Amino acid sequence: MRKPVIAGNWKMHKNRDEALQFIYSVNMQVPNKEYVDSVVCPQAPLLRDLVKRQGDYLRIGAQNIHEESEGAYTGEVSADLLENLGVGYVIIGHSERRAYYNETDTAVNKKIHQAFRYGITPIVCVGESLETREAGDTDTFVRGQVKKALEGLGSEQVKRIVIAYEPIWAIGTGKTATSDQANDAIGVIRETIETLYDASVSDDTRILYGGSVKRKNIDEIVNMPEIDGALVGGASLSAKDFLYMVDAALKTVS
Ligand code: 13P
Repeated sequence: MRKPVIAGNWKMHKNRDEALQFIYSVNMQVPNKEYVDSVVCPQAPLLRDLVKRQGDYLRIGAQNIHEESEGAYTGEVSADLLENLGVGYVIIGHSERRAYYNETDTAVNKKIHQAFRYGITPIVCVGESLETREAGDTDTFVRGQVKKALEGLGSEQVKRIVIAYEPIWAIGTGKTATSDQANDAIGVIRETIETLYDASVSDDTRILYGGSVKRKNIDEIVNMPEIDGALVGGASLSAKDFLYMVDAALKTVS
C-alpha cells in the first residue's frame, strides 16, 4: 500500500501574511502523516518561516534547487541550505522551469541526486505537450523523461522518490486529463520503473497526477489504481480546498 501525497505548488503566489494565514488554518487539520503526506511549496524566501510553523503533520517543500552544493550561481538556492532550514521536499523539473529556464533532463537528473545527497525528497515532474499527445507519442516521451531523470539512482532512492505526471496541456488551463488518461500515463511510468529496476521498486514508488486538480475532480483522481495523490497548483492556494483534497486522499486509505 502506497501512502498518498497531496502537494501544493504555490508557484509565485502568496506573500508572507497570506502564507502564514494558510498555515495557521490548515496546521491543526491535516491528517496524521502516517496516513497521508501533506506538503505545501511556497516561494523560497518563506521556507524558513513556514518550516518553523509547520506543526506536526504538514510539511514544507521548495520549488527548485540548484544542482551544485555551493558556488557562484547568483540567485540560486542550494540543497545544503534547504536541508539546513529543515525543508523536507523539493519539486524538480516542473514543466514551467523546463520551458522558461531551459531546465534539461540532465539538469533534472543532477538535481535529484543533489536532493538525495541532502536527505530531501524530490517531487519530480514529467509530462508531455499537447503536440506530443496529439502525435500519439505520449508514452515514448514520458518513458524517456523518466529514464533520464532516474539515471544513476539506486533502488532505495527510487522507492523514496515522488513522481508527478503533469501533462503540460492540463496545467492552469482548467482542462484536466481524464482520470483514465492520467491513470494510463502513470501506468506507463510504473512499467518503466519496473523495467529499469524491478516490481518491488515500481510497486513502492509514489506517482501523482497534476494539472487542473480541484475539489470537483480530486475524488475521482485519487481513487484511480495507479494514482497516489496529486500535485496541485491553483486550487492549493485555498486552505479549504487544500484540506478537502487531503481529506479525499485520506479516504482512499481509511
Ligand atoms: P494547476 O493545478 O494550477 O493546473 O497547476 C498544476 C501544477 O503545475 C502543479 O505543479
